[in-house]
Amino acid sequence: MITRFKFSPNDRIVVLTGAGISAESGLKTFRDSDGLWENHRVEEVATPEAYLRNPELVWRFYKQRYLQLSEVEPNPGHKALKQIEDFAGGNFTLITQNVDGLHRRCGNKRVLEIHGSLELSFCSKCLAKFPMNEIDLEQSLPRCDNCGGLLRPDIIWFGEIPYHLDIISDILCQADFFLVVGTSGVVYPAAQFLHICKSYNAITIGINLEEPKNSYLLDEFHQGKAGELLPELVRIWTRGK
Ligand code: OAD
Repeated sequence: MITRFKFSPNDRIVVLTGAGISAESGLKTFRDSDGLWENHRVEEVATPEAYLRNPELVWRFYKQRYLQLSEVEPNPGHKALKQIEDFAGGNFTLITQNVDGLHRRCGNKRVLEIHGSLELSFCSKCLAKFPMNEIDLEQSLPRCDNCGGLLRPDIIWFGEIPYHLDIISDILCQADFFLVVGTSGVVYPAAQFLHICKSYNAITIGINLEEPKNSYLLDEFHQGKAGELLPELVRIWTRGK
């Protein structure tokens, strides 16, 4: 038996994912290359200060990451998480730190993208949102159609407050199962979600290539690739609805 747990139809299931779930789709994780992110230091491209200092560089970086999305597809790990939502329906919530949109593309509906989305930008002056596919990416600094302000990627940078935190605390307190997939567990506040669920007596399960630092909070840990482990685990967890 590779897992000792099984979901019941009324169980509230919460999943937290990070870059590791998209690694098998061909997207790089963040902490796998000496603190560099596509050859840039994080503070050069993923902070509000970096954007004020050098908006062209920040735009080039995010445009490149946005354009990369058309070359990747959801992998078996994403598909397995879609099957959990099919099983649990409204009792399922997927919280992701990823900005690649692959969970939505895979068909998951209840997805909270706490770090924003590469597919959106917003005006730094009037805050109007614009889908990336509607703005002219040939411009080095795209501007707002409404007020002429500078657009910026709709990404939560270091030092900014993640989206959806208001509803997430309720969701975490009520979880029966909390699954953590493909995240190093070092970026707050997401790193704290496991702690909150555990203290409210959820069953906690981790799937990760390396053992995360907070693995002592996990009731079960599966070491390996999410795309290889999740399909079989989900089959067992959801068996016999
Ligand atoms: P990290 O790059 O910190 O961690 C990815 C984790 O996934 C590591 O623990 C890897 O061992 C694991 N991993 C790699 N390949 C895997 C696979 N095939 N299956 C399962 N696990 C695998 O990424 P995150 O934890 O997502 O924030 O990083 C959190 C946040 O920090 C990101 O959202 C981003 C980043 O800087 C912002 O952009 C604000």
